[in-house]
Amino acid sequence: MRAVLVGPPGAGKGTQAQILAEELSIPKVSTGDIFRANVSGGTELGKKAKEFMDRGDLVPDEVTNAMVKDRLAQDDAAGGFLLDGFPRNVPQAETLQGMLADLGTQLDVVLELRVDEEEVVKRLSGRRSCPECGRVYHVEYDAPKVEGTCDNEGAALYQREDDREETIRHRLKVYREQTAPLVEFYTGEGLLATIAATGPVAEVTARAKAAIEEKR
Ligand code: AP5
Ligand code: ZN
Repeated sequence: MRAVLVGPPGAGKGTQAQILAEELSIPKVSTGDIFRANVSGGTELGKKAKEFMDRGDLVPDEVTNAMVKDRLAQDDAAGGFLLDGFPRNVPQAETLQGMLADLGTQLDVVLELRVDEEEVVKRLSGRRSCPECGRVYHVEYDAPKVEGTCDNEGAALYQREDDREETIRHRLKVYREQTAPLVEFYTGEGLLATIAATGPVAEVTARAKAAIEEKR
C-alpha cells in the first residue's frame, strides 16, 4: 500500500498516520516529524528548515523533495509507505510521481481528512507531543493518563513552536493557497478519497480504513 494523507494542519494526519501505519504494517513517513528531528538535532537540514517552520511557511521544495527521495529509497519503504505531510503543493506531487515512476511503482490512494478551521485552532492550541516516541496528545480530547507525561515511556510532553494562534492562522492560509489544490489534482488522477475527520479518533480511523480498502 502506497498512500498519502492530505489535510489542513490539525486535521489529525499525524494521529491517524501512526495508527494506520501500524495496522497496515507499513512505515509512516512524516515530513514534519523528520524536519523537527533535524531541528532538535541541529543538523544542516534542520538549520535550513527551522526559519520556515517557525513562521508556518513551507520549507523550499528542493530541500523537502531531496529529503523524501532519500527516505523512500530506504529498504523499509520498498513494500509500501504512508506519507503524512507530503506532498504539500502540486510541484511536490509531480516530483513524487516522478520518484515513484523511477522506482517502478505508483500511489494507490490519497486520503483527504476534512475538518473546519475553528476545530483546527482548538485542536492545535491543545496539542502536546512526546519528544521520545512522537505520540501526539490533546489536553482535552486525548489526554495522557498523567498530565504532561507520555503514557509510553513517561517523557515530559512539549508544545510545538508553530502552535501559537497567530502561526496557526498563517499555516491555514498556506494550506488554502498551496496545499488545497492537491484535492483537485488527485481527483484528476482518480486517487482521491475524502473522509470527515471529526468525531472520536477511533471513528476517524474506521472511516479511513474503509476508504483505503475501497481504493485498493
Ligand atoms: P507538519 O508537522 O506536517 O504540520 P501540519 O501539516 O501543520 O500538521 P500538524 O502536525 O499540525 O497536524 P496533524 O494533521 O498531523 O494533526 P495531529 O494528528 O497532530 O508540518 C510542520 C511544518 O513542517 C510545516 O509548517 C512546514 O514548515 C514543514 N513541512 C512539513 N512538510 C512539508 C512539505 N511537504 N513541504 C514543505 N514544508 C513542509 O492532531 C492535532 C491535534 O488534534 C492533536 O492534539 C490531536 O491529539 C488532536 N486530534 C487528532 N484527531 C482528533 C479527533 N478526531 N478529535 C479530536 N482531537 C483530535
Ligand atoms: Zn512517548
